[in-house]
Amino acid sequence: MDSMTMLLFGATGDLAARKLFPALFRMFLDQKLPEPFWIVAIGRRAWSQSRFRSRVEKSLLDFCQDRSADFSRLPAFLQRVEYYEMDVRQPQAYLNLHQYVRSGEGERLIGDNRLFYLSVSPDLFAGIAGNLQSSGLSQTNGWRRLMIEKPFGSDLASARDLNRKLGEVFAEEEIYRIDHYLGKPMVQSLGTLKSVNPIIHAVWNSPYIANVQITASETIGVEERSAYYDQTGAIRDMLQNHLLQLAIMTAMHVPGRMTAEEVRAEKRSVIEAMRPLGQEDVRLHVVRGQYSNGSIDGTPVCAYRDEAGVAPRSMTDTFVAARLFIDLPRWQGVPFYLRTGKRMNEKSTRIVVQCKSSEEAELPNLVVIHVSPNQGMTLRLNLHAPGMPGQLEPVEMAYVPNQKHLPESYEMLLAEAMRGDRTHFAHWEEVELAWRWVEPILAAFAENRVPLHHYPAGTNGPDAANRLLEEDGFTWWLDP
Ligand code: BG6
Repeated sequence: MDSMTMLLFGATGDLAARKLFPALFRMFLDQKLPEPFWIVAIGRRAWSQSRFRSRVEKSLLDFCQDRSADFSRLPAFLQRVEYYEMDVRQPQAYLNLHQYVRSGEGERLIGDNRLFYLSVSPDLFAGIAGNLQSSGLSQTNGWRRLMIEKPFGSDLASARDLNRKLGEVFAEEEIYRIDHYLGKPMVQSLGTLKSVNPIIHAVWNSPYIANVQITASETIGVEERSAYYDQTGAIRDMLQNHLLQLAIMTAMHVPGRMTAEEVRAEKRSVIEAMRPLGQEDVRLHVVRGQYSNGSIDGTPVCAYRDEAGVAPRSMTDTFVAARLFIDLPRWQGVPFYLRTGKRMNEKSTRIVVQCKSSEEAELPNLVVIHVSPNQGMTLRLNLHAPGMPGQLEPVEMAYVPNQKHLPESYEMLLAEAMRGDRTHFAHWEEVELAWRWVEPILAAFAENRVPLHHYPAGTNGPDAANRLLEEDGFTWWLDP
């Protein structure tokens, strides 16, 4: 891999502590980082080098415990991390940063390859990109890449505006839009599952599949993020990006070669075929919910409206469920049900593909992809109960990978971006088409044309989400 400098904006933030440094440390231990490699950790706080490094050390101790990390190599890792204090709103500061980076690259014999990672508030994205350009930092003789976190805009217009501004500095091929669900190992395995297994490949279409259910439920509430979340809601925070990406990855035809270009073309054909929702359709196909007080694992928790920083009459959705159709011949008539919510009764992301029932078997075959926190797959079949002729019983076959050896999504995505592989990043066309699909829902929510159903914290969401499936003769598979 090419030697490179990683400029991490937002290095003192929560994401860097919880996800990025642990991922980089594990990559370092697994020798997956390029050599030489250097991280310029940019933050606003007036911290000394040693203070910053102790904080990174603490976050590694806190968030790398799940794997048998070799902490004796921590000092060697920290040697690669240099804290750089700066106000990213000051254009002048980028000139100094540029000089600093150039001299550091010279000392470390690093070629002119730069990875800019923006782990900052999205309202800073465009300004930072502009300053990278005007200071000369983004003009390299090698490659330059921009990694950005979601949210990518808050609606179609703002996403387009942001994309235009970033496009003035970076080409589409240089922009790596992170959807961390695309880095989850089981999501990345979906293509292989469908393409190399005729037993799956053959039935992955409407003659055999009754419906697809995609759930991303969380037990946490809005936590410290009410300022962001109250403006965002589950529809923008989870459905527009993560859930739609899971639906697309499930429905996508697997191309002969899994190159970024071919995958992008296949994903695009799915997303273009998502049946648009008209004004009236939103009421019929979308359920909006918000948690009221309840309990999680026996501990009482307050209602969303009572959370610190949330407007007392907030109409923000903390739960959303939607029915989606993909108008491609192989998915004709197959509903995709998506649902996500905070303060539900379990933390679980899974994709359940329900096959059509045979006449004899009461329970249908299910293919369940466990995305997180547990990863794996379950296949449910029907067999005769041994010694009980005529009596069928459901049998589950489970694949449970060794959870300890599974990389985290940020490890997967950072490694891919460093290699220049864009297969598991969201292309602009996908982001734009996803915003276009959710626009009628955003409008209906904003105008309160859809009821807001309250659900007690610690439950599976509002009953209305159950009715959405019951109308079609189905139910959510809770724990198949
Ligand atoms: C983030 C959302 O993108 O995904 C959060 O902003 C959410 O609100 C998180 O909690 C869920 O991610 P995961 O990997 O824990 O399912």
